[in-house]
Amino acid sequence: NQLELELEAIEKGGYEHFMLKEIFEQPKSIADCLRGRLDPKTGRLVLGGLRDYMNKFQNAERIIITACGTSWHAGLVAEYLFEEFARVPVEVEYASEFRYRNPVISDKDFIIAISQSGETADTLAAIELAKSKGATIFGVCNVVGSSIPRTTHAGCYTHAGPEIGVASTKAFTAQISVLTMMALKLGYQRGTLPESKYILMLHELADIPAKVEKALQTNEAIKKIAEQYKDARNMLYLGRGYNFPVALEGALKLKEISYIHAEGYPAAEMKHGPIALIDEEMPVIFIATLDSSYEKVVSNIQEVKARKGKVIAVVTEGDKQVKALADHVIEIPPTNEAFTPLLSVIPLQLLSYHIAVMRGCNVDQPRNLAKSVTVE
Ligand code: G6P
Repeated sequence: NQLELELEAIEKGGYEHFMLKEIFEQPKSIADCLRGRLDPKTGRLVLGGLRDYMNKFQNAERIIITACGTSWHAGLVAEYLFEEFARVPVEVEYASEFRYRNPVISDKDFIIAISQSGETADTLAAIELAKSKGATIFGVCNVVGSSIPRTTHAGCYTHAGPEIGVASTKAFTAQISVLTMMALKLGYQRGTLPESKYILMLHELADIPAKVEKALQTNEAIKKIAEQYKDARNMLYLGRGYNFPVALEGALKLKEISYIHAEGYPAAEMKHGPIALIDEEMPVIFIATLDSSYEKVVSNIQEVKARKGKVIAVVTEGDKQVKALADHVIEIPPTNEAFTPLLSVIPLQLLSYHIAVMRGCNVDQPRNLAKSVTVE
């Protein structure tokens, strides 16, 4: 009815869909997530939920991350972060597989369960299992007071605010923000991240909300790109290192809301299969930011161009090499390699959004999907 429609319009704050509103909220939701926790000036990084369990965290022989969907992708980013900064072995597990595998878990393991809703049935069951084996369970959730924060030993809320769009956007970047702070803290405490670098990283992290704001300015250009590719039947997303999970997340976003078949791959795996798919009908989205795998990704782009594939590349501002090769480039601000996912995912969220809208899809409530999956 009319009142409900008007209320919804108010909730959408002038945006056509919740998803677009939530994408644009990210400078604020990330800032909210960092607020009161991160203070680069004093070098302080306070995660209240971690305080009582810092010992367990610091002495853990292994970190196991468990989650589903987009939250699982945030977990993959965290694997790179924890290993780089804290030098702890990390495993990232789909909760649905983990819970049925009779996994090897002990009281030396520190389990991190990531969930926007805090209600995902498989993630809850994975937690119960790990708990019964004596592991410490830490939750990274968005919905305050939901089931997962109530079953874990400790946790950290992402403070992204309510996420209404079924396809997760701002919850993902808030999850990565929390996990980044955890990794920096752990690295510093364990002595694997030297103080000078630690302080530098804190400053860099504090700059992320403003850089996300800049990344959002690509919106109009992305709309034009979406126009050209909205009828594609398949898309391939490739990235390496920290951007490999972003490639998976970009492909998932497109599948979820536009119903276009998309796959994400680590760019180097292209030669082991996906390259066979490339022809003029196959748009390939590369995340080719200036980082340690840049040159390698550039040669993957050349391979795709040699097979007449269309290349859309997310690059670092000022990039020249990829610009000369790709059909379209989308520029994002430079940052430390470890923080790139917080920026590189933004254009991919926008691309999926615009393509889905142009295809007339129900962006906020895609068919067959639910915001929170409380059944197996
Ligand atoms: C559903 C949602 C996804 C979400 C996944 C995990 O499939 O549609 O957006 O990533 O569940 O949800 P969680 O609430 O545990 O993060």
